[in-house]
Amino acid sequence: MVRASILGLGSYVPDRVVTNDQIRFLNEKHEVCAEPQTDTNHEWIKARTGIEERRYVPADSGYGSSDLGLFAAKLAIEDAGLTPKDIDCIIFGTLSPDIHFPGNAVFLQSKLGIDGEEGCACYDIRQQCSGFVYGLQMADAFVRTGLYKHVLLVGAELHSHSLDFTTRGRDVMVLFGDGAGAAVIGALETDDEKEGILYTHCQADGAGAMDLYLKVFEIAKAPYVYYDANDREQNQIKYPQMNGKKVFLNAVRNMVVSVQRALKESKLTWDEIDWFVPHQANLRINEAVVQYAEIPPEKALNTIQVYGNTTAVTVPLTIDHYRKLGKVKKGDRILSTVFGAGFTWGSAIFRV
Ligand code: UT7
Repeated sequence: MVRASILGLGSYVPDRVVTNDQIRFLNEKHEVCAEPQTDTNHEWIKARTGIEERRYVPADSGYGSSDLGLFAAKLAIEDAGLTPKDIDCIIFGTLSPDIHFPGNAVFLQSKLGIDGEEGCACYDIRQQCSGFVYGLQMADAFVRTGLYKHVLLVGAELHSHSLDFTTRGRDVMVLFGDGAGAAVIGALETDDEKEGILYTHCQADGAGAMDLYLKVFEIAKAPYVYYDANDREQNQIKYPQMNGKKVFLNAVRNMVVSVQRALKESKLTWDEIDWFVPHQANLRINEAVVQYAEIPPEKALNTIQVYGNTTAVTVPLTIDHYRKLGKVKKGDRILSTVFGAGFTWGSAIFRV
């Protein structure tokens, strides 16, 4: 029987660390100002979110999210013992693409040096914080049906250029960081139906679409982009908007139900699962999910403290972070549950 399996993983974060103490002094260009630009503080951010620092690309780097994705993709391909030429499908998940269209997957394909007339299939997906689990479900199906041999799944986000560095945007601005994570998914010949990627389930509830969004433009309007920097109401279009409490409650509820469903449908118990890797939006969300879904707390892995919320990146970044520390080992089985804008959510169980 052919199953799909994660053959390699990689992640990347920029070198620049921005602490909670530093973030309130940053302006839109990420310059450190003499006076605070945002009314926030380390105590509030740490107590309400768990975040202590996050990573930002250098303001003058010229990087787009496809560049961050490239760093992670190369590491994942190498980790799988492959070369870029072996990749026959790219799935790119991001809410911060380089430009409106085309999507990031084709830019990444060129940066990997595998574009041209024989170029592989390129998909872009838009499931925000749920991108990795949604992408994994696609990759799993593609590989098991024999459509593609080696799927490169990439999540990459460059949030730091689209945040509101004023008190108005503080509820969202302090949460997000830049980074990238990637996995190569390929075939595994086995009769054991619990090997490789053994479970994926994705859901969405469009009723929550406008509880977490970033417009940038409204195609229904002419002109479809209106931007007046002096008009504080109008210039909100540039920044993410969130009904934080509603998102929080929906995240906890749906992640708990999703974990319980994953265990029931896979017929696994926590004795057979090494790690729980939840999306990293808020440490309090993850602690509540661990409590209500009765997950052994020592199996929950979090990295929001040091990377903030990197949306589509959090799952591979967290796994790779703990792999580098030697905690997650080859062959470990992971249950990952995500929740994000849309609302979208889902779970996956897989070995790394
Ligand atoms: O990844 C996608 C999914 N995203 C999420 O899951 C995020 C879900 N939401 C959350 O994590 C939380 O709702 C937040 C961290 C965004 C906010 O935490 P909260 O405990 O819900 O705080 P709040 O919005 O109720 O705000 C409490 C107070 C308010 O002041 P008043 O009205 O009580 O005077 C806010 O204005 O905290 C204020 N506040 C801040 N203070 C200092 C909001 N943001 C900040 C800030 N620094 N950065």
